[in-house]
Amino acid sequence: MSAARLSRSLGPAEITIHCLDLDAPPAPGEAEGADPSDWLSAFERERLAVLPPGPRRDDFLRLRLWLRRVIAGALDRRPERLRLGRTAHGKPCLLSAEPGAAIRFNLAHAGRLALLALCPSHEVGVDLERDRPLLRVDGLARRVLSPVEREALLGLPEPDRPRAFLRLWVRKEACLKATGRGLGFGPARFSVPTTPWLEGVRVDLPPATSGEGARAATGAEARAVGPVAEVPSAAAGAEARAAAGWSPESGGSGFRCWLADLEMAPPYEAAVAVADGPPRANDA
Ligand SMILES: CC(C)(COP(=O)(O)OP(=O)(O)OC[C@H]1O[C@@H](n2cnc3c(N)ncnc32)[C@H](O)[C@@H]1OP(=O)(O)O)[C@@H](O)C(=O)NCCC(=O)NCCS
Repeated sequence: MSAARLSRSLGPAEITIHCLDLDAPPAPGEAEGADPSDWLSAFERERLAVLPPGPRRDDFLRLRLWLRRVIAGALDRRPERLRLGRTAHGKPCLLSAEPGAAIRFNLAHAGRLALLALCPSHEVGVDLERDRPLLRVDGLARRVLSPVEREALLGLPEPDRPRAFLRLWVRKEACLKATGRGLGFGPARFSVPTTPWLEGVRVDLPPATSGEGARAATGAEARAVGPVAEVPSAAAGAEARAAAGWSPESGGSGFRCWLADLEMAPPYEAAVAVADGPPRANDA
């Protein structure tokens, strides 16, 4: 089987998680009707244009077709009719003009797997990472974890740290993707629980900061190489210190979400988050 799905509730929301295994042969009908010029959005066509014929291009097309089919299935629409756009921070979304555009979705891919989270009522973020040998956890932890997360990680025996780091990382990135701001928000500015398994907990993120634009660039860099390249600037460090004094009770409009781990077979780790409040309009 190439795709699987799981439905569950998380905080105030009902979510569905779909999983695609790119190594599995396409299901009957999965590869049909895939003329990209018919159904890709402009931003997807731009990406396709730089992919030479071969496995990477085939994977890209398969993933995009799958994404559309799943979303269209949830909306009872035809996949080629969906209009996808992106928010100002790059999060793919259904354009507001779409009937039923209230559905929110988020995609993550790592290795040969992809996860797609759908939610009809709340913003959603999902992250998936693949354990890799030689993950230099201690240096990464200094750059992207909060002090309390770092302390928990460094308290573990060294061989356990890479998996524990990835577990923390997918939790944090799922929250950041639910905000729609991505890594530019500053992963060290908030903490997720460090317990081995999360069934569903509330997490509070501080308000976005004015220095976010600067970090967005390092976020884009991080995208190219995985979760390793977030290098906070001096300004970001100052903001992180300022944010350390922030709490939900201290005011300002932070972002509150619900977070849960997703059960994956090794070497994968995954987590999903939904916003606690109502979704914003999709302004692509
Ligand atoms: C989104 C982001 C966290 C991705 O991290 P990653 O671990 O490399 O990749 P993942 O597999 O987890 O997720 C990639 C998917 O996230 C989605 N995504 C992109 N930007 C997103 C955002 N701001 N919020 C939530 N999801 C986003 C996309 O669907 C993307 O897959 P696709 O490009 O194939 O459609 C990272 O690229 C990021 O921070 N981007 C935002 C950069 C930014 O702020 N840009 C501002 C524009 S100036």
